[in-house]
Amino acid sequence: MATHKLLLLPGDGIGPEVMAEVKKVVGWLDSHGFASFSIEEDLVGGAAYDENGVPISDDAMAKAFDADAILLGAVGGPKWNTVGFDVRPEAGLLRLRKDLQLFANLRPAVCYPALAEASSLKRDLVEGLDVLIVRELTGGVYFGEPKTITDLLDGQKRAVDTQVYESYEIERIARVAFELARTRSNRVVSTEKHNVMKTGVLWKQVVSEVHGSEFSDVQLEHQLADSCGMQLVRNPKQFDVIVTDNLFGDILSDVAAMLTGSLGMLPSASLGSVEEISGRRRALYEPVHGAAPDIAGKGLANPIAMIGSLGMAMRYSFGLGEAADKLDAAIAGVLAQGYRTADIYSDGMTRVGTTGMGDAILAEL
Ligand code: NAI
Ligand code: MG
Repeated sequence: MATHKLLLLPGDGIGPEVMAEVKKVVGWLDSHGFASFSIEEDLVGGAAYDENGVPISDDAMAKAFDADAILLGAVGGPKWNTVGFDVRPEAGLLRLRKDLQLFANLRPAVCYPALAEASSLKRDLVEGLDVLIVRELTGGVYFGEPKTITDLLDGQKRAVDTQVYESYEIERIARVAFELARTRSNRVVSTEKHNVMKTGVLWKQVVSEVHGSEFSDVQLEHQLADSCGMQLVRNPKQFDVIVTDNLFGDILSDVAAMLTGSLGMLPSASLGSVEEISGRRRALYEPVHGAAPDIAGKGLANPIAMIGSLGMAMRYSFGLGEAADKLDAAIAGVLAQGYRTADIYSDGMTRVGTTGMGDAILAEL
């Protein structure tokens, strides 16, 4: 059996608490013959700053380049609010994303039947929901130049952001979306604003070309981003995979997230290109939530987003779909049995803390 190199970066706040639960699950997968892991661990965020004066060390970056997959907890907290902009905790995460060129951000929105009441929509609209948003993460208006605020002669100011996409950036994110759709329900909705934006025109054209030449077996639909947002709250179950740019993806993935309930439930993956020689795809897996300083150190954090992120690593980095399915089923199982951390608690359920939830998931496994 191949040994997979995992780098664990627990980070700050509740990061180390939820990472501790993931370590138990990794141990379980290893001892039950699902996979074999070699594990490294290092610091990121404020924890790294306190130790080394930088939010991620060159040594940790070297480990990140060497790893088959990275699991990250969370970074940040009020303790580091006053440190320099370049060494703030988030800069560690941004360096990882940028240096590893993690251009494809995958955010699944899955509604567990036991939690359908936690959604902002009615149960029948969200029960069984399973949408995957594929967001372009390293281009678009967040990075385009010029990006300025200038003073005008009449005392007014002018701010400029620039949305730039080159065709190779659209091609590679489209490929990721189509490949993932083939492992799911084989349907992709591509979203842009070609009616008002040139990048939207190119986006639609390139996605269509990639589809026609390589993925014509996948069903493709184009939707304008505003219409897609409307459809997400009107009838979310019509979607399987949604592929979109950095800005629209930021918004639409937060909309989709709230259809499923708590931040403590949501995993994510950020993928790079497949390397020519090794065939390996760089990948970082992390919960959508942050360091949650308000509950850090209290044993209250929900570890499901972190454990779900490990499940995504099994599925997307290691081709261990069976192990990923087992994790998903165990999470659904403990929720069905009524185990709830504080963030998803409702009357009559069994209240557990971080380790209690981790232990319940292990018992279910
Ligand atoms: P947050 O996600 O840390 O917390 C928002 C709210 O959700 C809080 O009330 C928190 O207690 C709750 N929450 C989050 N995760 C939870 C979990 N697993 N179980 C139970 N409850 C949970 O976002 P916030 O408060 O805006 O940011 C706190 C710090 O985290 C900041 O320093 C921020 O910069 C950082 N952050 C880091 C991220 C990352 O590492 N990727 C992402 C978002 C924020
Ligand atoms: Mg966002």
